[in-house]
Amino acid sequence: MFIVFEGIDGVGKSTQIELLVDRLLAAGYRVMSTREPGGTEIGEKLRDLLKSDHSMGDRSELLLMLASRSQHVDSVIRPALEGDTLVICDRFEASTFAYQGYGRGMDLDQLRAINEFATGGLEADVTFLIDREGSFRVNLDEDRFESAGADFAARVRKGYKELARQVNWFTIDGDQKIGEVHREICDRLFDLGLAKIRDYGS
Ligand code: TMP
Repeated sequence: MFIVFEGIDGVGKSTQIELLVDRLLAAGYRVMSTREPGGTEIGEKLRDLLKSDHSMGDRSELLLMLASRSQHVDSVIRPALEGDTLVICDRFEASTFAYQGYGRGMDLDQLRAINEFATGGLEADVTFLIDREGSFRVNLDEDRFESAGADFAARVRKGYKELARQVNWFTIDGDQKIGEVHREICDRLFDLGLAKIRDYGS
């Protein structure tokens, strides 16, 4: 199963991913967690560039995101899924639609087509959108995305809400306590067939 976490910067995705990985491992599943951009040697180099180079244009940004993704899909995600490992990914294609599409204003149909070329058609089995009222990480000096401003973050968040109308998406209220968010995610995964997730803890 390919499980993706999405949301604007600072909503607590990483914490939830850590909790979920621990939970699934304790329940006896084979699990791998990874992230985008990144997840491979090439991807991590692209990530550094993407986050820090302020001279980068929007199309370059898009193509580097997709270069990272195609390398990631081919060398990490697909092989893991074929080996029956649960793959938990911090961001995937929906980040491109939310950030480059709704955030930067690029054409969504074009993005979908070029993204499909990058992924070879691989899609998440389930996507958790962690949504939080008015909360985003702001780092004015370094990270290009975190320094893009409140309007940008608001457009991305709105985009996510539209994307989340698709099937296999669950919007989780990230303003709840960490444990409550975790429990809700586990409940959804139980419903989707990960029955052992309840063998450990409550
Ligand atoms: P993060 O790992 O700290 O969330 O940083 C990754 C940043 O990259 C985040 O601000 C969202 C952005 N991003 C895009 O703009 N498009 C994409 O396709 C992906 C995967 C991430």
